Amino acid sequence: MAGENFSTIVPDTVIPAGPEALSLSDLDPDLDLWAEIDRLRKEKNAVILAHYYQDPEIQDLADFVGDSLDLSRKAANTDADMIVFCGVRFMAEVAKILSPNKTVVLPDVEAGCSLEDSCPPDKFAEFVARHPDHYVVTYINSSARVKALSDVIVTSSNAEHIVRNLPEDKPVLFAPDKHLGAYVQRQTGREMIFWDGTCIVHDLFSERELVKLKARHPDAPVAAHPECHDGILKHADHIGSTRAILDFVTTTPAETVIVATEQHIIHQMRKDAPGKTFLPAPGADGTCNCANCPYMELNTLEKLYLSMLNEAPAVEIDEALRAEAWKPLQRMLDMSPPATSQGKGAKGSKPKAAA
Ligand code: 13P
Ligand code: SF4
Repeated sequence: MAGENFSTIVPDTVIPAGPEALSLSDLDPDLDLWAEIDRLRKEKNAVILAHYYQDPEIQDLADFVGDSLDLSRKAANTDADMIVFCGVRFMAEVAKILSPNKTVVLPDVEAGCSLEDSCPPDKFAEFVARHPDHYVVTYINSSARVKALSDVIVTSSNAEHIVRNLPEDKPVLFAPDKHLGAYVQRQTGREMIFWDGTCIVHDLFSERELVKLKARHPDAPVAAHPECHDGILKHADHIGSTRAILDFVTTTPAETVIVATEQHIIHQMRKDAPGKTFLPAPGADGTCNCANCPYMELNTLEKLYLSMLNEAPAVEIDEALRAEAWKPLQRMLDMSPPATSQGKGAKGSKPKAAA
């Protein structure tokens, strides 16, 4: 299973809850968490943003569910006073970089990302210094410090477009995801070098098992995230960000789709394309157990409630660092193609099953 031994390095940009804060053991087990979260949402003028890899309960109560780019845009444009980020730490950092005057909280301070951890800022600074004639293109799955060393940030939904539109006078240094980088290189033909990072979830899909699954379902197209290695991508009928994959499964005439990304997204697929069958791509043991992001899974409804109540863990970024990280992020927003669809808005109502 992905990340059985995973751990994460918590940067100094996130302040954990202090000793005075309420903790999980203080929670009344009979508390109606949905009602309490709703109360705090109104009281604190909070917006709850969630990534498609979050637990279905969290996706259902969020005000907005989206991919990294949709969520960044939402965070940059919200009127809320508090942004509750149900995703991983780099996403909450992006929200704070783009909306510095808002309170930004995330349910679990340990909700990191293997790509962020693979790229320590000091080592990355040395790598960049060794290649002064390159454009530094950094995937959004990285720390604020690494972003601050970059020329432009990309997400999986705009990486190809942005790299294509960079002037051709210099080669590209792409970090930290070598699989996304290699995919962008194949698409654009640009000269590129890569940081050696991978996503522990998408790296575990097995080509051998995928081929077997395809043989059993010859009419099922494969929709894959570009964080997958080429052994998976070469069998894919569609490659794109989480939102692009969702758009694909709803528009394809196919009744069954093989999904090569984190499996919590299947919750949205079932809502958007009821009646279709979604088969998670398998890992080496032939099951889909590898497709859970252990970082995303740290966020729970209880921790979400506590983060709103305690206003912690909270993102606090030194202004000089924030200003440096803002430049390549804003360049990304300026260079991105306009949104064709924008994630899923206006949730926040209690589902029948939880009533
Ligand atoms: P998206 O930008 O496609 O939502 O991907 C984020 C991510 O972490 C994928 O593993
Ligand atoms: Fe990071 Fe992979 Fe989890 Fe996405 S799925 S947050 S890239 S570890």
